[in-house]
Formats: sequence, structure tokens, C-alpha cells
Amino acid sequence: MKTKTTLLLTGTLFFALAGLAPVHAAVDADAAQKLAKKNDCFKCHAIDKTKKGPSYKKISAKFKEKKLGEKDAIKQMTMGYKVKLEDGTEEEHKIIETKDPKELSNLAQWILSH
Ligand code: HEC
Repeated sequence: MKTKTTLLLTGTLFFALAGLAPVHAAVDADAAQKLAKKNDCFKCHAIDKTKKGPSYKKISAKFKEKKLGEKDAIKQMTMGYKVKLEDGTEEEHKIIETKDPKELSNLAQWILSH
């Protein structure tokens, strides 16, 4: 009788806690920033001020407005499109050194969360 109650309580607690977890895996901000640092992204992008490139806040706002998403951000990181820097010069966008889809997705989601 006692074990049955304990089991029942444990089960209830488990489902209660599981219900608190978000449906999507949370963005790992530390990993995203580490990856961005390693790839010199912060040389041109800051979170909320314009450097050689737009801030991540600006990018995030633009993506929302144009209904772009994670996939488009990943393209920018991996395709080496020509971009115009704030000083008017043009160069090919930095290609990120990882091909791990999980790392790319996490960084894209982190950028777009601003
Ligand atoms: C040499 C400077 C420079 C570096 C380094 C750089 N970027 Fe950019 N990035 C830019 C510029 C400039 C733009 C703006 C492109 C435009 O609006 O045409 C941009 C745009 C973007 C965009 C938005 C694309 C869009 O469609 O508006 C994303 C996402 C992005 N960068 C991510 C990154 C990541 C991640 C890294 C590191 C791997 C990185 N950038 C490194 C200069 C840079």
C-alpha cells in the first residue's frame, strides 16, 4: 500500500515537471556565443550595436519582418554571399567553420532570439 502511494506520487511529480519543460529544446546561449567568438562573428556583429555588420537585434527584427527563419540565417553563415559592410566596402561573408547542423541551428536560433 505504501509503495503504491509512493509510486503514484513519483509518477505525478514526473509528469508535473515534464509539463514545465518547453516543447522545443532551449537555445544553448553559452554554446552559441562560444561558436560565434571562435568564428570571429563578433568582429562585425554585436548584440545591440552596429559594427561592420548589423547587430543581432537588427538582424532578428529584419528576419521577423521578412518572415525569414533559421534556415536563412544558416545559409548566410555557410554560403559566403557577398555583403556590404557599414563602411561601404564589399566582401564575401564569413563562412562558419562548423558543419554540425545542431551547432548551426543553435547559433541561428540564438541570433534570432534577440
Ligand atoms: C567581416 C564582417 C563580418 C563577419 C566576420 C561576419 N559577418 Fe555576418 N554579416 C556581415 C554584414 C555586413 C551583414 C549584412 C548583410 C546584408 O545585409 O546584406 C551580415 C549579415 C549577417 C546575417 C543576416 C543575413 C541577412 O539576411 O540579413 C547573419 C545571420 C550573420 N551575418 C551571421 C554571422 C555569423 C554567425 C558570423 C560568424 C560566423 C558572421 N555573421 C560573421 C558582416 C560580417
